[in-house]
This record gives sequence, structure tokens and C-alpha cells, in this order.
Amino acid sequence: MNPDLTRFGEQMSHLTGVRAIMKDIIETLEADRGREFINLSAGNPVILPEVEQLWRDCTAELLSSSEYGEVVCRYGSSQGYQPLIDAVIEDFNKRYGLNLNSHNILIAPGSQAIYFFAANAFGGYTSDGTLKKIVLPLSPDYTGYGGVSLVPEALVSYKPALEVDPLHHQFKYRPDFSQLEIDETTGCVIFSRPCNPTGNVLTDEEVNKITALANAFDVPVLIDSAYAPPFPALNFTAMTPVFGGNAIHCMSLSKAGLPGERIGIAIGEKPVIQALQSFQTNLCIHSSRYGQAIAARAIASGALSEIALNVIRPHYQQKFDVLEDTLAQAMPKDVPWFLHRGEGAIFAWLWFRDLPITDWELYQQIKEVGVIVVPGESFFPGLQEDWSHKKQCLRVSLTATNLEIATGMRRLAEIVDRVYQRVPAV
Ligand SMILES: Cc1ncc(COP(=O)(O)O)c(C=O)c1O
Repeated sequence: MNPDLTRFGEQMSHLTGVRAIMKDIIETLEADRGREFINLSAGNPVILPEVEQLWRDCTAELLSSSEYGEVVCRYGSSQGYQPLIDAVIEDFNKRYGLNLNSHNILIAPGSQAIYFFAANAFGGYTSDGTLKKIVLPLSPDYTGYGGVSLVPEALVSYKPALEVDPLHHQFKYRPDFSQLEIDETTGCVIFSRPCNPTGNVLTDEEVNKITALANAFDVPVLIDSAYAPPFPALNFTAMTPVFGGNAIHCMSLSKAGLPGERIGIAIGEKPVIQALQSFQTNLCIHSSRYGQAIAARAIASGALSEIALNVIRPHYQQKFDVLEDTLAQAMPKDVPWFLHRGEGAIFAWLWFRDLPITDWELYQQIKEVGVIVVPGESFFPGLQEDWSHKKQCLRVSLTATNLEIATGMRRLAEIVDRVYQRVPAV
């Protein structure tokens, strides 16, 4: 059968961004079954024993409680499982001195779903035909934003300003406020903080500036906090989560050990939460109640935030240190390579200025020496502008072992050295 696809059908049946590259990676791994690859492409978090144990314990508690049947044998409220909503309210009110109530919370099947709801509830064409944009204020950003809108022309992102430290081969992206446009044509704003792929953390001041710009036009700002405190707390630099007004704090339990259970949490003002909730009811009713029930226990007991701080954060921070130290030793000194400041998340981001080949070609050459990284171009969703920088970056996952990361970076350094000397790879 080969049914006709609608415009939306076409749009949604394409693999966007990094998922298209993942297909190439899976095919490589399958084609070369006998070959050992160091896979530094993964976005799947590491299964840390303490984290797995936490979820096992919460599950055992749930199984032995009278709540079990109510949890798994029943539909529930679209807004979320009440004990989880209550646990979030209590934790956040205490931790951040907020005044949240049930109307401020929505539980979704993963945070990706929240961005899909928001991108289509606030971005796209209004009933009078006006195009409302989904603004990504700093590109590169999460590749998944590339597929969230049913109206691709609604997605707009902005080139960043670059702060470069040539002596230490380091750099950092900053939002370019001289270019950023948030006005009556903006439907919503989305950015990740800490950022996947770069590890950037927008400063509190930068976030406040963006929310203030958007507030003037009553535009919701979705702050993708998939790596932020209090869990998984994958920030290696101080940052304050932003709540209230037009800011929607969006969390994920995926990097806190529960990606399979699909739990995202949005915290915001009632009208926005209601709009997102209706979208969710129409689309999928609600998130898995089993996942929500174990999450409620882990949050209410304080165990999740404690494990995030004491286990999850140090694990990835140490991986970044290994990567940074290895690159500092192994990379050719005369090549203009730059590592983005490692301020959080589970990735490192490399920029090769004046790279003689494309990021895709570099990825292929690195694959030849048994190392898989991710070419950077797919992390610029919504950036139409032709900008050479888009083809000069790589994302490296911090989910491998120390040895794999160090070996992988040494092999990468050799390839980079050859590429800049224009010596063909063997
Ligand atoms: C920045 C960012 N946002 C959202 C997501 C999606 O997370 P979830 O599993 O909660 O849908 C990811 C997943 O990798 C991510 O890196």
C-alpha cells in the first residue's frame, strides 16, 4: 500500500536533523559487525548503578503498595498523576520559594512532547492567516526542535556572537541581541539551558533579557531544562532556573535515568499550561502512570535531587575533564580548533575554524579510524543563513568510558592534523 500523504504527513514522515545521521551510524555499525567502533555519538544517558537502583527501589515500593492497581490499571487525568504533581509543587515551592499550585503543572510523555504542543499551539498560522514564529534565540541548539512544528517556515533561529579564547582553544556562544527579533510576529521562544549540543549555559542575565523581550508581546518562553537543576543537575556552572511570568520551565526525567518512561514536566502560568494540556488530551491522553508514580516517590523523598548532585553531575563532569585534557595534549597546536566551554549537559562541542573539508566529510574520516562522532550541521535548526561555521563543528558524547573518550579524541586529533595539512587519510 502506498497512501497519499498530506502536507503534514510529508512533514512528519521525514527524519529530521540528527535522526537522519543516526540512521547512517546504525547502518555503519551493522555493516561492519566484526569491527570495534568507539561510539561517541550516543544521546542515550549512561545507566549509572545508583540511578538504576533508585528506580528499582521506587518500583519495588510501588509494587508492594495498594496504589499499584490504581496506577497501572486505570486512565488518569491528562494533566498528570496527582501525587507527582504534588511532589513537584512541594519540592519547587520549598526549593525556590515559589507559590505554585496544580494549575501551574503539566506532566507530558517526555519533554519533546511539550515542545511539540507549544510549537503548534503558539507557532504557525493564526486563524486570520498570520504566521507566528517559533524563535530559537541562539543557534546551534537541540536538533529535535527541527521537527516540532507542523509549519516548518515558522521556525527561525539566530546566529550567535562568538567569544573566542585562542590561547586555550576555547570558545563560547552568546545570544546576539543586536540581531534577535522577538515581536508581535513571535508565537513562542524555545532554548535549551544547559544546551544540547554545545554544553552552553545562558547566563541568568541573558535569560532575563530574553524573557523581558518576549514579555512585552505576551510571548511564552519555553526554557528547555532537560539538563538543568534540580534534576538531573547537569550544570557544571552556577545557574538559576527561571520561573514565573511568561517563562515556562520545562523538565525531563530522561537524563535522570528514566528516558524509557517518557516523563516531561512543564511549570508555567495557568493559561499556557491549559493550552498545552488540551493539546496533550487530543494527542495522547497522558503520560505513562507507572513512570509518574515512581517519579513521584523519587522526588518526594528528595532522593532524585540528591543522586543528581552527587552521582549524575560528577559522572559527566569528569568525562568532560578527560576529553578536555586529552584534546589539550593530543591536538595539533597550530590548528585553529576550539572546544566550547563545558558548562553542562552530556556532550562536548568542537569547532574547527577554516576547516578545509565539511563536517560530514570529517565525520566520515573519523569513522574510518573507528570513532563515531556527530557532524554538527544538523544542530542549526531554523537557521537558513549560509554560514560556514555550520559545517565546521562536531558533537562528542560524554556517555562513553574514560578510555574510549581518550582514545577517541587521540584518533580524532590525528585526523584533524592530516585534514589541515591536506594529507589524504589512509
Ligand atoms: C535539550 C533536549 N531537550 C529535550 C530532549 C528530549 O527529552 P525527552 O526524553 O524528555 O523527550 C532532549 C533529549 O535528548 C534534549 O537533549
